[in-house]
Amino acid sequence: MRNLEDPFRCVDKILQGHAQFSPAVLVDMHAKATSEKNAMGWFLDGRVSLVFGTHTHVQTADERILPGGTAYITDIGMCGPMDSVIGVEKETVIEGFLSQLPRRYEVARGDVIVQGVLLDVDEASGRAKEILRIRIPWKKAGV
Ligand SMILES: [Fe+2]
Repeated sequence: MRNLEDPFRCVDKILQGHAQFSPAVLVDMHAKATSEKNAMGWFLDGRVSLVFGTHTHVQTADERILPGGTAYITDIGMCGPMDSVIGVEKETVIEGFLSQLPRRYEVARGDVIVQGVLLDVDEASGRAKEILRIRIPWKKAGV
């Protein structure tokens, strides 16, 4: 990626003056590195309701409420085809790794999985009360 502005300083600017809209604030840290997502959770602990990661598509099992009242999970996972490589036809991805040549990726077919989190937030303070990780395999009719 091109050089971008530092996300930690950026979120500081965004959060200034945001309290007038709602005490409940959700932050999606769309990034690849788990360490950056983890650091963002600690950086915002006590200032937002939830910091959740996206982009890797692989759900992590580290959901928790940090000491300051911010719920955190490194990656909430994806909603999409189960028998796939992060949603893409697995055969095409494997061929790409073996040949080191670019491939045209297609979304995989078949049964799907729904992943994410359910969050309970105190309406007055914006602090998280509970975070529940969701992972529901869904069999498609007629498949
Ligand atoms: Fe992405």
